[in-house]
Amino acid sequence: MSGGTADHFYREAQRLGYVARSAFKLVQIQKQYQLIKPGSSVLDLGCAPGAWLQVACQSLGPMKNGGVVVGIDLKKVKVPSTHCDSRVSTISADVMNLPKDEVLNLSPQKKGFSVLLSDMCPLVSGITTRDAALSMELGMRALDLALGRSKLPYYSLEDDQLEKQSGKENDDDVGVLKTGGHLIVKLLESEDTKELSKICKPLFRKSSWLRPKATRSNSREIYLICQDLH
Ligand SMILES: C[S@@+](CC[C@H](N)C(=O)[O-])C[C@H]1O[C@@H](n2cnc3c(N)ncnc32)[C@H](O)[C@@H]1O
Repeated sequence: MSGGTADHFYREAQRLGYVARSAFKLVQIQKQYQLIKPGSSVLDLGCAPGAWLQVACQSLGPMKNGGVVVGIDLKKVKVPSTHCDSRVSTISADVMNLPKDEVLNLSPQKKGFSVLLSDMCPLVSGITTRDAALSMELGMRALDLALGRSKLPYYSLEDDQLEKQSGKENDDDVGVLKTGGHLIVKLLESEDTKELSKICKPLFRKSSWLRPKATRSNSREIYLICQDLH
């Protein structure tokens, strides 16, 4: 633990074999929403050091149920030996620059994922507005990957038409989240965070905000939880 006394969640993580206390954020999300089910295909963006990989794999249940968990992070991540099995794999890449078709290729039969988790966070500078803006960029990228660019407001339809006229396929139109899939995105709260839920609300059956109990009291993090992509 970096500085301070070991808190409840840190001690519990040590006791239960989780590589980080952040595990309990996904444990709480799972308890409340049951988004990851036996057989789910899970994409975990910003997966280092691997606590969410552990909880996601546990949530898949026994090996015979199948399912996969794919983690991506800037850092190289060794799949934790506790709570993870051969259904978990990781790659090291910058999600901001990773082409969507490469992400799709990581999914079972290249057909997409049923759950997309983004716990990505920028290196926090302490300048609230700057950190929130960087977090928003990561959040928008998670949305772009999940849903496809045409669903995002900054995407110009004119560009799309031009590409169609030129006969060029636009891979960015399609997201990697399957119909009926779920999306969880971490953000550092600011005025702009509401924008993200405005985009998601009509696209999913339900969307809500959660600040998990394991979030540190001095953190501005908040999770957007979107259920059942139309
Ligand atoms: C809070 S940590 C994730 C913790 C993780 N969910 C766990 O429980 O072990 C945030 C991670 O986001 C990653 N990250 C930030 N920007 C990224 C990017 N552009 N591409 C991939 N990973 C990124 C960081 O390297 C960091 O490891």
